Amino acid sequence: MPLKSRISGTGSYAPENVLSNLDLEKKVDTSDEWITERTGIRERRIVKKGQTTSDLCLEASKKALEAASLAPKDLDMIIVATMSGDMPMPSTAAILQKKLGAKHAAAFDLNAACSGFLFGLSVADKFIRTGASQKLLLVGAEVNSRFIDWKDRSTCVLFGDGAGAAVIEPARGKSGIMSTELHTDGSLWDYICLPGGGSQHPPTAKTVRDRMHFIRMKGNETFKVAVRTLEKLVVNTLKANNVDPSQLAMLIPHQANLRIITATAQRLKLPMNRVAVNVDRYGNTSSASIPIALDEVVREGRIKTGDYVLLEAFGSGLTWASALIRW
Ligand code: COA
Repeated sequence: MPLKSRISGTGSYAPENVLSNLDLEKKVDTSDEWITERTGIRERRIVKKGQTTSDLCLEASKKALEAASLAPKDLDMIIVATMSGDMPMPSTAAILQKKLGAKHAAAFDLNAACSGFLFGLSVADKFIRTGASQKLLLVGAEVNSRFIDWKDRSTCVLFGDGAGAAVIEPARGKSGIMSTELHTDGSLWDYICLPGGGSQHPPTAKTVRDRMHFIRMKGNETFKVAVRTLEKLVVNTLKANNVDPSQLAMLIPHQANLRIITATAQRLKLPMNRVAVNVDRYGNTSSASIPIALDEVVREGRIKTGDYVLLEAFGSGLTWASALIRW
């Protein structure tokens, strides 16, 4: 039987500080009603002063390692999917390696924005299946709150901070990752971007004045592409693996907007009790949203060995991705 990879442990962490829609009403011209109706978000978590992306990674990773009964020194690879790392260089994965004490692990970051965890899962799957890695830690983590324009009501109500982690190991038998599918359309890069601070617009007083170091999004245009693309993606992924939507135990979508999640579930005729939803509690945590949701359904006992679990994401790039897992 060919070698596969499987998720052997999950963990997640969200900062304690809760920012509710009512709190946001005091900051910008918005309302709890608008945010809840348009997005499904009720509150989000925000880091405390001095808390960094690698700090969130560390908490989620410790829980995932414990669940997989592994020690940090057992790891041979760490991948952190993030677009809001501690600093541009070195990688947040390198800083996490030090904080964990995982000195045998090669460590690097990967940026596919909100699709980052699934791009990372696909890379991890290949490393495990080729035998190049035996014990891999994959983390999706963001401190979005430091890259949000708190004066822009069209974006500041959407995002939150958090981290989710998964340990990936070799598997033989029926359980394991069945397929991963990755897509990018770079022609739509300006739908969601953070234009300042890179080689195109290095940081200057002007880039700061022009608020170029914050996330910008063409929300409505992105929404339409996301719904259309994800509906097609989930149907195609199941078809390619000869799995009928009725056989699906759980859909774990990226958590950007409850209306996008519901549309995807309806396309598959899935009842909402078979869909992981936490956008109401965390908002959009970008690359952390799927591993946080996965960890929650695992710990709540909502998926069991042998179940089909479908993961899907959409984000800046534009990128979109899926993974089908036999749990
Ligand atoms: N509070 C109150 N009003 C707001 C608001 C807020 N926080 N944000 C925007 N509005 C207003 C707009 O100014 C606009 O007013 P106008 O009609 O007078 O011009 C109106 O609400 C409608 O704005 P629009 O952007 O068309 O709303 P929408 O229904 O598309 O919802 C999003 C906005 C951002 C919630 C939605 O487009 C979305 O979720 N987009 C996709 C996000 C996504 O998937 N990203 C990819 C992964 S990161």
